[in-house]
Amino acid sequence: AGCYAEPFSKLDHNLKKVKFGQYRGFLFASLSQDVPPLDEHLGDAKKMLDLVWDQGPDGIEAIPGVSSYTYNANWKMQVENCIDAYHLTSCHPSFMNIVSRRQAGESRNTQVKSIDFNVMDVVKGGTACFPRGHAVIYATNPLENERGMFVHKDEAVARCGETKTKWMLATRNLTIYPNVQFAENASLQMRVIRPLSVDKTEMTIYCLGAKGESDAAREIRIRQYEDFFNTSGLATPDDTIAYEDCQFGFQAKTLDWLQGTARGITGYHTGPDALSSEIGIEPDSGFMGAMGAWDETVYYGGYRAWKQFIKDGLEADGLL
Ligand SMILES: [Fe+2]
Repeated sequence: AGCYAEPFSKLDHNLKKVKFGQYRGFLFASLSQDVPPLDEHLGDAKKMLDLVWDQGPDGIEAIPGVSSYTYNANWKMQVENCIDAYHLTSCHPSFMNIVSRRQAGESRNTQVKSIDFNVMDVVKGGTACFPRGHAVIYATNPLENERGMFVHKDEAVARCGETKTKWMLATRNLTIYPNVQFAENASLQMRVIRPLSVDKTEMTIYCLGAKGESDAAREIRIRQYEDFFNTSGLATPDDTIAYEDCQFGFQAKTLDWLQGTARGITGYHTGPDALSSEIGIEPDSGFMGAMGAWDETVYYGGYRAWKQFIKDGLEADGLL
């Protein structure tokens, strides 16, 4: 139709061949052919994706309104952030104060159903690291009735059972290593991380919801999403500026002292625990305790994977 000469059609046009894999409704591609099949890469993290996909009888969909933004820092800042609860009080006090004022009746905004931060120290939670860098942070959610999905809880229980529904309604932040995240602390957000350089990263974010959910459920979901996420939300800008401050700090001379990421180390264990067994996952390692313990050991899996992948790459290129 374009009236190209015959040789043109026979050229490959230098298009890069990707290695493709699919799990449920999630499509993955790797620019490197030298990676294991998706099934092997995901491992038990597939069960965490099931908790996302099965929130509706026909799966989930991206709600129109995709947005993207950049921040001036390394991509691994975002990988850490998604599975970090510890930064909540230091990084998001303005958001927490607004939520407190709503709960005290000082706000006329009745559209948003907020998270109650007062329960953080009594809610049971944990973290888990999977092979190949995937990790999740989770907490059973006593305020599940504030979630959009709660509107259709009975349908979910009939289809998936009580336990799985409880975990679908729980707070879960998941990193599928290296560059996809599902943040579900109020509504459900998917994040795609694209490193542009060592100190610049592009984020593309999507609000996800169950296909066919009611208007009531979707309204709760979208209002919560706008409140917390997006560049115009009350939390995301706090995080991105913190990444940039960290990147600036990384240029400092290394000192003898370094606090490291040791918070939670006495609750760290290898293998599954009572909470992870309930979801049916067998992680490499994990932490279990009050959500307010805010474990840092959950970073270890991703950095171990990063170190291994870099080493493998250098070896393959004959540089190590
Ligand atoms: Fe944050």
